[in-house]
Amino acid sequence: MISKTVLVTGGAGYIGTHTVLQLLLAGFKTVVVDNFDNSSDVAIRRVKELAGEFGNNLSFHKADLRDRDALEQIFVSTKFDAVIHFAGLKAVGESVQKPLLYYNNNLNGTITLLEVMAAHGCKKLVFSSSATVYGWPKEVPCTEEFPLSAANPYGRTKLIIEEICRDVYNSEQDWKIILLRYFNPVGAHPSGYIGEDPRGIPNNLMPFVQQVAVGRRPTLTVFGNDYNTIDGTGVRDFIHVVDLAYGHIAALLKLDESNIGCEVYNLGTGKGTSVLEMVRAFEQASGKKIPLLMAGRRPGDAEIVYASTEKAERELNWKAKYGIDEMCRDQWNWASKNPYGYGSEEDSTD
Ligand code: UD1
Repeated sequence: MISKTVLVTGGAGYIGTHTVLQLLLAGFKTVVVDNFDNSSDVAIRRVKELAGEFGNNLSFHKADLRDRDALEQIFVSTKFDAVIHFAGLKAVGESVQKPLLYYNNNLNGTITLLEVMAAHGCKKLVFSSSATVYGWPKEVPCTEEFPLSAANPYGRTKLIIEEICRDVYNSEQDWKIILLRYFNPVGAHPSGYIGEDPRGIPNNLMPFVQQVAVGRRPTLTVFGNDYNTIDGTGVRDFIHVVDLAYGHIAALLKLDESNIGCEVYNLGTGKGTSVLEMVRAFEQASGKKIPLLMAGRRPGDAEIVYASTEKAERELNWKAKYGIDEMCRDQWNWASKNPYGYGSEEDSTD
């Protein structure tokens, strides 16, 4: 059994909760820091329950990463072996409207975290980056060596943080950093007890589909059906969030090897699925009809994005197990049990 202590920033969020659960079950002591800006403490309570006896190894602090004193106190009270850094704002459209909010939150939060880590001699980091750093890839599958670009301030914060991490490692080579580029995380824990619960109108495909299925929204708008793809709709690499969570355990184990430096890995399935294929799979899993409205392309969207998974398979010994049927089954299980996420109909903003 592993008895290491990990700090998870943004651990109350969608990917965070699923990762924290796997960490606990794998025997890690886990401390979550989250400002609950786009998440709920209910999610943390549910993770604790799902973890059973391992739930005793979970504690959490409500704090913003930019609050250096609060972060200091957390590092003074606990010695961490590593940090998994999820915390950040992630809505593309909002980042275009409020770039300074995104730069301030994502960049200052990360810089403060890195400074406090260094001051306490904790120099192992796993950072949640995104396939968004591939911009509009010229070919697929996307390998980690592809040229990087950002189409919006949100994407630029991911890109800049990746660069910051590389610079930090170059300046002090006792750092060990893994940058994980996620493709499109969907689904939920099979218990249906934790899942994705975005505030306001969902930006991403599956949270929107799920809200149509439970009757919160009338139709799904499909952004573009004239792409050069199997059915004209965009193609993405959807990955089950539980597979993604396991990818973080694999990354943590990798950090224990010597001479990691600052390495980047894609976390995807290597398979492309179109928007319509995903909607059909969800209809099958849920037995619900999803009314569609065909609309123009969403500005900034790429046509086809999916991952090369070779490097993660080879070096992290990790491979996604679940396919889109399981993703949709578990997404529906979560949605049907929690149509208003962690809240109730009264406090929803619908
Ligand atoms: C989006 C972000 C990306 C971010 C990722 C996080 C954009 C341009 N990209 O990726 O930066 O890292 O989320 O999860 O926002 N779609 C519809 N109708 C909808 C919503 C989406 O047709 O209501 C389509 C999109 O056009 C796209 C596909 O579904 O073809 C997937 O969209 P989405 O779930 O937003 O993910 P990405 O755009 O891949």
